[in-house]
Amino acid sequence: MNTTPIGNADPPSKSSLVGRTYLSVLDLTAEALEACLTLALRLKRERRLGSHAPTAQALAGHSMALLFDKPSLRTRTGFEIAMRELGGHVTCPPSADALGTRETLADVARTLERWVSVAAIRTFEQSRLNEFVKATTHLRVINALTNEEHPCQALADCLTVLERCGSLRGRTLAYIGDGNNVATSLTHAALMLGLNLRLASPEGYGLPESTLAAARRTARHGAKVVQLRDPVEAAQGVDAVYTDAWTSMGQETEAPDRRVAFEGFRITETLLSEADDEAIFMHCLPAHRGEEVDADVLDGPRSAVFDQAENRLHTQKALLLTLLDEK
Ligand code: CP
Repeated sequence: MNTTPIGNADPPSKSSLVGRTYLSVLDLTAEALEACLTLALRLKRERRLGSHAPTAQALAGHSMALLFDKPSLRTRTGFEIAMRELGGHVTCPPSADALGTRETLADVARTLERWVSVAAIRTFEQSRLNEFVKATTHLRVINALTNEEHPCQALADCLTVLERCGSLRGRTLAYIGDGNNVATSLTHAALMLGLNLRLASPEGYGLPESTLAAARRTARHGAKVVQLRDPVEAAQGVDAVYTDAWTSMGQETEAPDRRVAFEGFRITETLLSEADDEAIFMHCLPAHRGEEVDADVLDGPRSAVFDQAENRLHTQKALLLTLLDEK
């Protein structure tokens, strides 16, 4: 496995960060994004050193608040383990207390910034994150998934392509499925890192043109994104095939209509055979076998889904160190 660095990326300096938030992949400069992945690779290698890892106490004295309005395994537990392995602490106030109707989000932010260095929030509208961020002057804030974006997932996805395909620049990934938060953040990150993207969704379920335009503005190394309607055309010759649930959290009432709309978009062995012989299969999990992906693909030899899950930890550690400038 050739994990050639994504660039000549040194750890990012404070000035290479756009700000103190990671609400979107677009909050990071391309340079900072590359450096974050390079740091994640280092953290992954050094994890076997346990308490002797150079970063084992990097966040000593820092606390993190996890505010989750929706269920989570990978994101939430990933941050808990990340903070513990970096020497910091985590607090998880019940969502009814922190994100409910007891008080404004601004008052929650003003309270938490007196105690913790960083907050990760999983909620509904992205505007709720903006409201939280506006109220605090120094708290670092991470988007742990909103209806619009899932930027933590995109970090792990790009690290997985880098590891499994040996490079990002010049590779091509086909995302076949719903044009959702995962697709949005993946598009942002891929184009910044030089990874070409083919998106294939049924009519009415693709990414908005404004999302593609924002991603194209930050594209580097000639990376391109195209949006198609035909999953077979999208899969032909690619290095990775990615899908996600057809019905995301909060859309449960749409599930029957979505099953009809997405007919033909399931990732089967036949569809995967259109890709390069070495192509990997990707899914952010949780998955629905027999719906968006067949079990023999998800559990088969080309599946990289548990590498993606593992990489949530390494990339979230790298993100915390980057935002807190404690590398
Ligand atoms: N992929 C992902 O975000 O997983 P969780 O919902 O379990 O955090």
